[in-house]
This record gives sequence, C-alpha cells and structure tokens, in this order.
Amino acid sequence: MDIKSIRRDFSILADERYIYFDNAATSQRPVQVLDAISAFYKETNANPLRGLYEWSIGATDRYEKAREKVAHFIGAKPEELIFTRNTTESLNLVAYSYGMSFINEGDEIVLTVMEHHSNILPWQMVARQRGAKLIFLEPDEEGKLPESEYEKITDRCRLLAVGMVSNVYGVTNPVDRLIRLAHEKGAVVVVDGAQSTPHMKVDVKAMDADFYALSGHKMLGPMGIGALYGKKELLDKMPPFLTGGEMIEYVTRDTATYAELPHKFEAGTVNAGDACGLAAAVDYLENIGFDFIREQEEKLTGLALSVMQDMEHVTIYGAKTPEDHSGIITFNIEGCHPHDVSSVLDSEHVCIRAGHHCAQPLMQYMGVNSTARASMYFYNTEDEVIRFTEALKKVRGWLGYGS
Ligand code: ALA
Repeated sequence: MDIKSIRRDFSILADERYIYFDNAATSQRPVQVLDAISAFYKETNANPLRGLYEWSIGATDRYEKAREKVAHFIGAKPEELIFTRNTTESLNLVAYSYGMSFINEGDEIVLTVMEHHSNILPWQMVARQRGAKLIFLEPDEEGKLPESEYEKITDRCRLLAVGMVSNVYGVTNPVDRLIRLAHEKGAVVVVDGAQSTPHMKVDVKAMDADFYALSGHKMLGPMGIGALYGKKELLDKMPPFLTGGEMIEYVTRDTATYAELPHKFEAGTVNAGDACGLAAAVDYLENIGFDFIREQEEKLTGLALSVMQDMEHVTIYGAKTPEDHSGIITFNIEGCHPHDVSSVLDSEHVCIRAGHHCAQPLMQYMGVNSTARASMYFYNTEDEVIRFTEALKKVRGWLGYGS
C-alpha cells in the first residue's frame, strides 16, 4: 500500500501544513464516499421504501444494498442491522427499548468505568427508572481490566455494556471473554463498537454479542449515519424505540402492528444517501485491509510513544506498547492545561482533542480533569508524527516554562 496514493483520495489532506490527529473524534472521508452520497442524490433521489416508481425503487434498492454491505462487514444478517444516526442513538435504542422492558428492580447493569458517556447515561436512565443498580469494572493503570474485576459480573447481572476499544486508552477490551462470562450469568451484552469498527475486523456472531453499535463517521463514512446490530430473537421481542412512518404494518385509530425487522426500528424517512456513503466507506476499508491499517497505526503509535516516553514532562495514559492503543495516545504535559496544549499545537497546524473526551467517570478514576489526546489513522505518516512531537516539545516554552 502506498500512503501517498491513499492520501490523494482524501482531498482535505492535500494541504500538508495540517496534521489531523483527531481521528478518534471523527475520521476524514475519501472521495469514493463523497461520490457515493452525491450519486444517490444525483441519480435516484426519491423517498425510499415508499414510491412505486423507478426512482423510489432505485433509492430503496441502494439503501437495502448498503444495509447488506454494512451487515456483512460485521458478520451480521441484514435483517438484524438497523440504521441509526450514530452509536449514541444505537445505544439509546437498546436502553429505551430493551432496557426499559426487560431490566427489573434489583437487577444489575455492569459497565466499565472507561465507557464513553453514550454508554453510561442511557444505563443511568434505565437504572433510575427500573430500580436497577449500576456496577463498574475498573481498569489497571494500563487501561486493562484485571481478572479480579470479572467477579463483579454476578448472577444478578442482567446486562453488560462495554466499549470494545476505549476512546481514552485505546485499549481493546477482551469482549469475547466478557460476553462468555455475562452469558453464563444469563445477561445480555451490548458492545459499543464506535472505536473498534474503524480499526479491526469485527464479527458480531463469532464474539456472540447481543447488540453491537457503530458510527459511520469514525470509519470514513458520513456523519449522521450509524448502525445497531441486534440478535433477531431479541429485536423481535423488543418494542419500537421511535414510532411513526414506515415502521408499521397496519394502523387503526387506536392500535398499530409493526413492520418486520429491521424496519420496525427505522421510523420516518431514512438517511439513504449517507447509508450509501457508509457502504462506500466499508468498500474502502475492505480494499485497504485491516492488516495494513493495524500495521500502519502501530508503526505511527510506536514512533510517537518512543519520543513522548522520553519527554521529561509528559505523562502518557495507558499501555506502553503500541498494539494496545488503536492509534490513540492520551497524555498530559506537566503544568499545562490540555486546552493550552491543543491551542499551542493548533498554532503549528496540529489538530488534537483536549478535554474529558466524554469519559468523565474515567477522568475522575484517573485523578485528572482532562487530558490531551492524539489519535492517528492509517492515512497519517511518520513525517506527521515527527512534526507533532517537535511541536509538543515547544509547548512548555510557549507557556512560559524554561524547558
Ligand atoms: N466520541 C468521540 C471522541 O472520543 C467524539 O472524541
């Protein structure tokens, strides 16, 4: 794979003054994705799933083909793949529909303290309204879950919600093992795949997840389209999350029966253009291949870590080894607020994220208010890593420290 030719697909990367290291927040999109969205609107725009004329049938066809592509990408069947706006909406769908119907008083919902707010707040709501209790698994200093934490998954656990990759540490959680343990206790497992799907081959059937959520915009796709995989037998018994157009079979003044899966969970006009964009993103990722993606991320993370680990005032959170980062390096510079670090880097055209990363319980657990975070993807280069670390070395000087 030639990085230069890959980068030519991403027109925003043509301006080489900029170094985009905020890929965990959102990735960039290649021209193939932009073209697929535009082709939908230029060639067959009409409301899908409704009209009986050629354009609408064409729109439906592209939308359902996009569903097939995304479903197969994660090892799912199309009827088990619901398009949503993003991971947050997918997780809320499970919480409102499954959680509010099947979690009861005294049940335990197990999370990790590393979860993104999207995988905490819906469960806080379910716990409050259904009288359930939240239990948190806590990681070690490297962001890894010690074996002893698994004992918190008891017979009272009815639902385990876990991020496959932490958006702060970049560490990959042992979801296969956690799913097995939770299933032994009779719990269902919801996997937040926002940060894993862009970086590794996912097979929801092999891992035996009950639900798996993903966002298109972190994996080269458009903003505003995501997906939820759910096991058919669970989705079938769940009530709809949103109600209205297109999710019905038959409606009378007082009653309604619902459409078959997956349409039961897709009320209103669907986001077909962006679904086509997401399908093109899947094609792109499959063409690049996850072996190359992992190799490139590890090379870049390894280089950045080797320089940053030798910088006197830098604290890196998470594992020492690049393979445990999924391209993410979360850090602080002694005496410098992460917002200041980000602003100084911005003056050198380096884009990173600074703040609590929507993971405040983890920040509290780590004993910090906020951190800086650089996150790399396969289209970044070693030259960019070197320029980033050179910029980092200037931060304390800019903020008035001698070194
Ligand atoms: N969840 C995204 C992040 O980690 C926005 O930055």
